[in-house]
Amino acid sequence: MQVTAGDIQGSVDAVALWYHTIELPGGIATPGWFDLRPVVERMPWPDVRGKRCLDVGTYDGFLAFELERRGASEVLAADIADHASWDWPARARALGPDRLATMAGPEKGEGFRVAKAALGSAVERVEVSAYDLDPGQLGTFDVVVCGSLMLHLRDPVRALEAIRGVCRGHFLSAETIVADLALRFRRRAVVDFLGDDQLCQWWLPSPAAHRRMVHAAGFRIERHTRPYAIPFGPAHPPRAGHSASELRRRAAMRLAAGGDGVPHAAVLAVPEI
Ligand SMILES: C[S@@+](CC[C@H](N)C(=O)[O-])C[C@H]1O[C@@H](n2cnc3c(N)ncnc32)[C@H](O)[C@@H]1O
Repeated sequence: MQVTAGDIQGSVDAVALWYHTIELPGGIATPGWFDLRPVVERMPWPDVRGKRCLDVGTYDGFLAFELERRGASEVLAADIADHASWDWPARARALGPDRLATMAGPEKGEGFRVAKAALGSAVERVEVSAYDLDPGQLGTFDVVVCGSLMLHLRDPVRALEAIRGVCRGHFLSAETIVADLALRFRRRAVVDFLGDDQLCQWWLPSPAAHRRMVHAAGFRIERHTRPYAIPFGPAHPPRAGHSASELRRRAAMRLAAGGDGVPHAAVLAVPEI
């Protein structure tokens, strides 16, 4: 049976929350919170053609589908099974799983499944935490990609070490950084500690600290980007308007990352040990 643009639009509309803006057939784009399309070429991609690849913390799968689009021969997209499995700070965890689901949004993997079907993609979603990546279970990968995850983990270096354990080629790590720290500390590895209950955010590094974390996990950095901003997508909730701190944040963003959005920096690394 032929799938029409109307069918795709219907299944896109039925997903309660889209994290990623993803282009689907029929000129349809999912209404994500974040739109990686304008920055995807700024990421330091290795050649993935014919390679076995893994995307860690895939959400709706933007980076996994990008690996496939670039010619990967096999792509696994790893994510946790449910919202209770995030590394919630103690106060949030004490509220219980139902409350956590309300804070983090509805069912995990719904958007991924709709996008995969619409794209006719062969990417496979696997439910495994970054901490538990095990070469004995999943094998090893020529290319591992991980985006915007480390800030949500209580022990990011342990997760990076697990990534190191399944990576036999290149690791592309694209993480949220702090614009203001990028401006003030170009070389120093400085980290902002948040321990934020609502957004489940722990550590926000300077670009130098992000590189240091990847290095500490056993990688050698081959190259890294300058900071760049991931634009907010159409579904992102409105942000705190014109408070002094928000205006300062946006000014630092424009200076450090050249635009508005969420500041990121990316590295391409190879296992060293
Ligand atoms: C902020 S989103 C980033 C999505 C995507 N990687 C990107 O770069 O746009 C973080 C994702 O990591 C997942 N996640 C959270 N804790 C995780 C863990 N311990 N292991 C693997 N994925 C995790 C979340 O479920 C979510 O899908």
